[in-house]
Amino acid sequence: LTLMLGACHSGHYPQDHEQLSEDERIVIRFSHVVGEETPKGLAARRFAELVKQRTSGYVEVQVFSNSYLYKDGEEIDALLQGDVQMIAPAISKLSELVPEWQVIDLPFAFNETEEVLDYVFSPVGQELLARLEKKGIKTLDVWDNGFKQLTNSQRPIQKPEDAAGLRFRIMPSEVLDRQFRQLGAQAEVYAFNEVFQLLEHEQIDGQENTLSNIVSRNLHYLQNYITISNHGYLGYFVIINQEFWDGLPEEVQEVIQTTMDEVTEWQLQLAQELNAQHLEEIEACQCIHVTYLDEEEREQWFQRLQPVYQFYAEKYGHQYVDSLPRFKD
Ligand code: LMR
Repeated sequence: LTLMLGACHSGHYPQDHEQLSEDERIVIRFSHVVGEETPKGLAARRFAELVKQRTSGYVEVQVFSNSYLYKDGEEIDALLQGDVQMIAPAISKLSELVPEWQVIDLPFAFNETEEVLDYVFSPVGQELLARLEKKGIKTLDVWDNGFKQLTNSQRPIQKPEDAAGLRFRIMPSEVLDRQFRQLGAQAEVYAFNEVFQLLEHEQIDGQENTLSNIVSRNLHYLQNYITISNHGYLGYFVIINQEFWDGLPEEVQEVIQTTMDEVTEWQLQLAQELNAQHLEEIEACQCIHVTYLDEEEREQWFQRLQPVYQFYAEKYGHQYVDSLPRFKD
């Protein structure tokens, strides 16, 4: 796992692999739950194209987007069983296997993506990645999607108490559940591909997500209010089935890892650009009321949410909280 920019692979692969059958080529099925035009969707496609080019078609990455192959709650099992070889779930979803990873969900713990990456590459982060490896998962890199914002149908949310009484969709994570309960709100776990309908049928009042996930799913047209809260981080571990990985020829492993590192650098930039662009779209659409939090308000939210940190530290270990940038020095 390295963020170093990989050198371009010169390609010792014989040409004409297009002629080979699937059995003769190496096929990697890469499944994800979001749209093609999101930072994850675009990066998955770019990775597939580059790997194909660099191996002259010998290694084919087949990308399945939009939960077409597997939904949340299915894709991790599918990876472990080898039905699919690669996925890139939100880190929150990997807490199903290593619950300590919910540290990334702690509200207002990080101010920028670089801080999250530093955490992942720190000794505690490496320890938690090793736990994923013990479960049969190799982490190739971290992809970014920026920070989550709060949307709802009922009222502007400026202060923590404004969220009280509302029902929000969350990803499966106890920390996210506690975060909303601490605000006096309710949280319900649903798969990402269900969110549009749940909002449309008013089965929930709101949800939290990044701007690219909100805009690519047109959620801003269904919701009346958005708070640019940047309260929680949403990134992905790009992971591959360890047994499958171990069975790959070394030069294929090398081309996959170097291409992935290169795409990761590109993806980081792209996620930030897309989220900035989507914020402009949301501000201009006149379809949703936008509320911003200033530094002082963010600090009030953070104070109000302290019990969530206590819950995490007592259940999963103080060391993971103490290593957060907020508490480190
Ligand atoms: C969500 O479930 O809201 C996100 O994890 C979807 C995604 O993969 O970005």
